[in-house]
Amino acid sequence: MNLNTLINVNKRKFDIKFKKLLKNKLEKSSLSNAMFYGSMNGGKRIRPFLVMESAKMAKISSNDAFIIASCIECIHSYSLIHDDLPSMDDDDYRRGKLSTHKKFNEATAILAGDALHDLAFELISGNLKNKNDISRLNLINYLSLCIGHKGLALGQALDLEFENKKLSKNKILDMYSRKTGKLFEFSFSAPFILGDKSKKDIQFSKDYGMLFGLIFQVIDDLIDEIGTFKKIGKTPGKDIAQGKSTLLELIGEKQVTDFCKNEINNFTKKHKNKLNQNPILIKLLEFGIKRIL
Ligand code: IPE
Ligand code: IPE
Ligand code: MG
Ligand code: MG
Ligand code: MG
Repeated sequence: MNLNTLINVNKRKFDIKFKKLLKNKLEKSSLSNAMFYGSMNGGKRIRPFLVMESAKMAKISSNDAFIIASCIECIHSYSLIHDDLPSMDDDDYRRGKLSTHKKFNEATAILAGDALHDLAFELISGNLKNKNDISRLNLINYLSLCIGHKGLALGQALDLEFENKKLSKNKILDMYSRKTGKLFEFSFSAPFILGDKSKKDIQFSKDYGMLFGLIFQVIDDLIDEIGTFKKIGKTPGKDIAQGKSTLLELIGEKQVTDFCKNEINNFTKKHKNKLNQNPILIKLLEFGIKRIL
């Protein structure tokens, strides 16, 4: 099976289980309707795919891999619902449909994002079967660090602060590593952390997830510029219209893909042995670039 098919098969399986989980957890309310809408509306589920591949390597149970993946999709969906708000990127569409604040209203969208964030912590603190209290606590602590004041939330704040400014490559990459990289870092390293693997293996898994996330954001910016609504399900051309500081703006299309290829080459050289443990890992990094097509 090629990688695209594998990702899609995993997405379909994940969606069925995730829908069931949400149905079990959420009581009937307009808030839960908005939570459901914002998280079950056609995401690619790339992060759950990373979790699954990492879970195989770290040998954690499929229940725990699913709970981690669900927790991550709750966080990811919350971040997208808030990202689309008028006070942030002001986007009316997401995944080919009205964004959550357009479908419902702004207050409901804000609260649905908040409650998805909280549901993520409900899942990771209450639904893992792993009995090692220390590993579970480490995992929850690490999630908080990845998405909070040093991670995703700071990255999103910097993204907005950086609008209409000329910034260095390092500043832009730092912002990417927080707004997008950190959640990917968590996605790939969570099974290693929960599985109480060696420090070295955990560090490798963090570095891999971060690299994947950086490439993912760099290419997301490229897709924003050259994609169509039909293909990407969100309004194209928004980054330029909003004066977003992107690597693409700074160095151009060809250099952007060269940058990604270079980063992959350096990483591959450094981590040959680990990468050979799961041949899909290199293919997945390359998919990160190829997904423009
Ligand atoms: C979009 O993420 C936001 C970024 C971090 C670039 P995805 O492209 O994974 O969004 P969905 O979940 O597939 O819609
Ligand atoms: C989103 O970056 C990053 C997060 C949601 C944390 P973008 O603003 O580029 O994502 P899209 O393009 O709206 O999906
Ligand atoms: Mg944004
Ligand atoms: Mg956006
Ligand atoms: Mg974007």
